[in-house]
Amino acid sequence: MHKEYQQRRSQLMAKIGNGTAIFRSAPMAVMHNDVEYNYRQDSDFFYLTGFNEAQAVAVLAPHHPEHQFILFVQPKDREQEVWSGYRCGVEAAKEIYGADAAYPISELDEKLPQYLEKADRIYYHLGRDRNFNDKVLRHWQMLMRTYPKRGTGPIAIEDTAPVLHGLRLIKSEMELGLMRKAADIAVEAHNHAMEFTQPGHYEYEVQAEIEHIFRLRGAMGVAYPSIVASGKNACVLHYIENNRQMQDGELLLIDAGCAYGYYNSDITRTFPVSGKFTPEQKILYEIVLEAQKKAIAQVQPGNPYNLAHDVAVRTLTEGLVEIGLLKGEIDQLIEEEKYKAFYMHRTGHWLGLDVHDVGVYQYGDDKPQILQAGQVLTVEPGLYIVPDTQPAEGQPEIDERWVGIGIRIEDDVLVTSTGHDILTAGVPKEVREVERI
Ligand code: GLY
Ligand code: MN
Ligand code: MN
Repeated sequence: MHKEYQQRRSQLMAKIGNGTAIFRSAPMAVMHNDVEYNYRQDSDFFYLTGFNEAQAVAVLAPHHPEHQFILFVQPKDREQEVWSGYRCGVEAAKEIYGADAAYPISELDEKLPQYLEKADRIYYHLGRDRNFNDKVLRHWQMLMRTYPKRGTGPIAIEDTAPVLHGLRLIKSEMELGLMRKAADIAVEAHNHAMEFTQPGHYEYEVQAEIEHIFRLRGAMGVAYPSIVASGKNACVLHYIENNRQMQDGELLLIDAGCAYGYYNSDITRTFPVSGKFTPEQKILYEIVLEAQKKAIAQVQPGNPYNLAHDVAVRTLTEGLVEIGLLKGEIDQLIEEEKYKAFYMHRTGHWLGLDVHDVGVYQYGDDKPQILQAGQVLTVEPGLYIVPDTQPAEGQPEIDERWVGIGIRIEDDVLVTSTGHDILTAGVPKEVREVERI
């Protein structure tokens, strides 16, 4: 197994000292009746172990004299494995994944207390599996009942997120290699989709072209349900029906990314279905493009995380005033969030093992996260003139010619020591490039 997982565990163990951390594998998700979705390991669990099977628990006990890394896994079972795939099993959990001790998951209740009774706290994230949450709480309760006899034991439970997610926020070279690959595959898919698109095709045909390339290039699959939204569907931020026939004169918004080796890409492009913008589409597109470029320019080590969003909001607001969709003084419009009628989401998010990756954006009011080399974030401003939008008080009526236009442009950006690197720069976004005639 790659040494890097061990380094990650060491880094975490250095932070938890006399505590014991417990991580639970992701639950299986039912599609219908007895059919399950493809299994996808929990990101924290995977980050620390590289282990991709269900029904597992990882324990980190840095203070334990013999075992610092303990895995509980499904045992080898020939009959079960014939149905649902090979299991690593208990012995190989030590050899392959570097566990100091490994046990069948059925022995969790029996074996866990020895790793908790000398710990001063339990690190555990209360997850969606309530039965497992209860199990951890019951262990804690039992240990506290016997605390007076020993004078040791966990007196508190602390969430693992603050100690672990700071590590996940800074990507290693190995992680960046996988993220670049996820980005490259999605770049190829978007470029192909742009070539393929023409009036008369259905949105799902474009989706199929994109997702074909994802799997063909070895991606695990989509990073999230692909959004292929033509015409006014682009004004639905999470539109995933993808079942409409695209018409001449419309825009197509594609928000699609893949997962490669567990790491995600997340790209949005918006372009004219038949290759040429209408004047209104072009005006709005140029505003969003300018906002996106100016926001990306703020992705620099040392800059506060919020700056990209603030710059995007200002550029979008100025553009909206210029074309008469908003009126008033820029600072006041921003202060009163009038732009939210047309721009209702944030300008980006961390990207990594999760599409909306873990990591803090700000440490309380007025203390934003400061960008550092190794962080990866998306920059994705947009404008959406949603049908039936009523103008806010004191704001102009919305001229019909803008209605139903939705535009977003999204790239994945790595913070480097000297600036940034746009991982998804290979998909064109200039007006002359996305106009294909
Ligand atoms: N596609 C999800 C997002 O852009 O955040
Ligand atoms: Mn995104
Ligand atoms: Mn996206």
